[in-house]
Amino acid sequence: MLHRCTLLLALCLFKGGGSVSTSCKTLGCGGRDKTCSCTTSCWSFSSCCDDYGTVCPEQSPTIQLGDVNMLITTDLHSWIEGRTHESLLNASLAHVVSALDHLRKAADVEKRDVFFFDNGDINDGTGLSATAPDHVEFLAPVMQSARYDALNLGNHELYQRNGHGIVEGPACPVVGLKESGYIASWQGRYLTSNVLWSSTEEPVGSRYAVVEGKFGTKLLVFGFLYNMEDHCDAVSVLDVEQTLASDWFIESLEAHRTLCDGVVVLAHMDFRDALVDKIWAAVRQGMGPSKPIQILAGHSHIRGYRRLDSHASVFEAGCKLDTVGFLSYSFEADGLRIDHSNITGNVQQLAGAVNRSVSNLPTAAGVRTADAINTARGRAGSEQLLGCASQRYRLLGPLDNNSLWTLYMNQVLPGALLDSPRSQIAIIGDGTLSYDIFPGPVNVDDVYKASPFANFWLKLESIPGTDVAKLLSQLIHPTKYDLPPYLITGAPVPSSSYDLVFCEYDTEPIVGRLSKILGKHLEPRLYKPLLNTSSVLNKWFEGQPCASQDVLV
Ligand SMILES: *[C@@H]1O[C@H](CO)[C@@H](O)[C@H](O)[C@H]1NC(C)=O
Ligand SMILES: *[C@@H]1O[C@H](CO)[C@@H](O)[C@H](O)[C@H]1NC(C)=O
Ligand SMILES: *[C@@H]1O[C@H](CO)[C@@H](O)[C@H](O)[C@H]1NC(C)=O
Ligand SMILES: *[C@@H]1O[C@H](CO)[C@@H](O)[C@H](O)[C@H]1NC(C)=O
Ligand SMILES: *[C@@H]1O[C@H](CO)[C@@H](O)[C@H](O)[C@H]1NC(C)=O
Ligand SMILES: [Zn+2]
Repeated sequence: MLHRCTLLLALCLFKGGGSVSTSCKTLGCGGRDKTCSCTTSCWSFSSCCDDYGTVCPEQSPTIQLGDVNMLITTDLHSWIEGRTHESLLNASLAHVVSALDHLRKAADVEKRDVFFFDNGDINDGTGLSATAPDHVEFLAPVMQSARYDALNLGNHELYQRNGHGIVEGPACPVVGLKESGYIASWQGRYLTSNVLWSSTEEPVGSRYAVVEGKFGTKLLVFGFLYNMEDHCDAVSVLDVEQTLASDWFIESLEAHRTLCDGVVVLAHMDFRDALVDKIWAAVRQGMGPSKPIQILAGHSHIRGYRRLDSHASVFEAGCKLDTVGFLSYSFEADGLRIDHSNITGNVQQLAGAVNRSVSNLPTAAGVRTADAINTARGRAGSEQLLGCASQRYRLLGPLDNNSLWTLYMNQVLPGALLDSPRSQIAIIGDGTLSYDIFPGPVNVDDVYKASPFANFWLKLESIPGTDVAKLLSQLIHPTKYDLPPYLITGAPVPSSSYDLVFCEYDTEPIVGRLSKILGKHLEPRLYKPLLNTSSVLNKWFEGQPCASQDVLV
């Protein structure tokens, strides 16, 4: 099982800790040391060289319009508002929609088509997501306003949210997307080639769609998810290999072989995943040697590009709007020319890529998406001020008093969640937190960015200290990185007994192991049902009033 954020942390938390104040000025652009890497990407956003944007000027990439063109977002994780604390990544989804309009205008002149795709994991990242019980209610109308040509789903749309009935509310985000009419609103272009409703065995969206551009380009589009095992009960995720061998898949290729100009596979999986090669091989076999095949990857939150054959490639366009992907291809005498660009999620870069200035970027459609974002922010209460942070608390770097983990384990959980920090021990996994808290006023959005998942809390009562110690020795093994896989609010004394408090996401590793240690079945109970892993931080910051000068910052 891929823990939801380990990839993100693994890249920056190198052993040895060290200063987090290294800068691109001293390291050089593209350089890296133990804690810092001077590149644009969402896994290097915070302690990894805060001055990247100012020290390492980037040029807008030149976009080559081809016969067929596409703009791509993946793993947005609700980071669609433009970042306030990182001015380099200040582009919002509204800016992307505007850029799409300008691209289409330029392509119109040459009668060429431009498509717009999203590759899933729309939720879990900012205040727009888990303030809603199903994590997607506020977000979905914004995605609709962006008028994508086709969309995929990701693993984050499929996590169980109600503990199989322990708490009320929607079972998982995808159920919310169905019940709100979101999936139906895409009229067959919400693609789930290997995900079915478990109750009916019908596809969640459509297995594939033929998407036709204004100038007649026809693309056969699929939407695959990696072989996810820890999905919610509402769905079944079929093996990608099994799906590629199924009759409907083989027949869909056969039926569209001459009808379609190319194949696009939205694939929620790393661009290096062996499944990408299997998908490519199956589509290639069905479509013949010269049909263009574009696989659009995601999930691992990086940029990446690989040519698969003379007429195929795979492209992964970063995450959280740190990147807007552009890809085009053209038929040339000696084969297929494929061009792609990693456009950094910055307003100036995006405007430059479509030959506009920052001030003449916005279009009417972009303004509608900006309005949808503002409406969603209002519903989520994103701007509600909670209190103030006296300093920056960092996600990455050593576990000292500048660490967000130290704050969360030593102050937030003891202060806002536990009744008796002496007889209770809270355990959290290293994927719980995901963004820095910045000094000054802290609002709901800031809190949900730092702790986006809003998992509810569970407890196991009266566990002997010796058994807690055994559990911890199994869970907390040394890693290559500074951050252990689990963190605790306090160490057990063998002769005492403890209530263990943890979040539902970590149920399996904690309850499963402890059941084995104690040799009996354990049934965790709900703990503080009005709180979750995000809202404890709301509650704590409500107790951190602002000095009058803070509010003016
Ligand atoms: C988390 O708790 C807060 C505060 O009670 C609540 O507003 C929010 O909806 C909860 N989130 C989820 C996903 O249950
Ligand atoms: C996009 O980024 C990836 C990862 O850094 C890189 O391999 C690829 O060459 C980049 N593409 C372009 C056109 O620069
Ligand atoms: C975003 O940053 C660029 C410079 O990097 C600046 O030109 C632009 O005005 C900013 N836009 C917004 C909306 O903040
Ligand atoms: C932007 O302008 C350059 C130079 O004139 C041109 O080559 C390029 O195709 C244009 N790009 C778009 C997207 O219009
Ligand atoms: C870290 O913070 C704790 C709690 O506020 C304090 O007791 C401790 O002295 C601090 N340590 C350092 C090294 O500043
Ligand atoms: Zn993701």
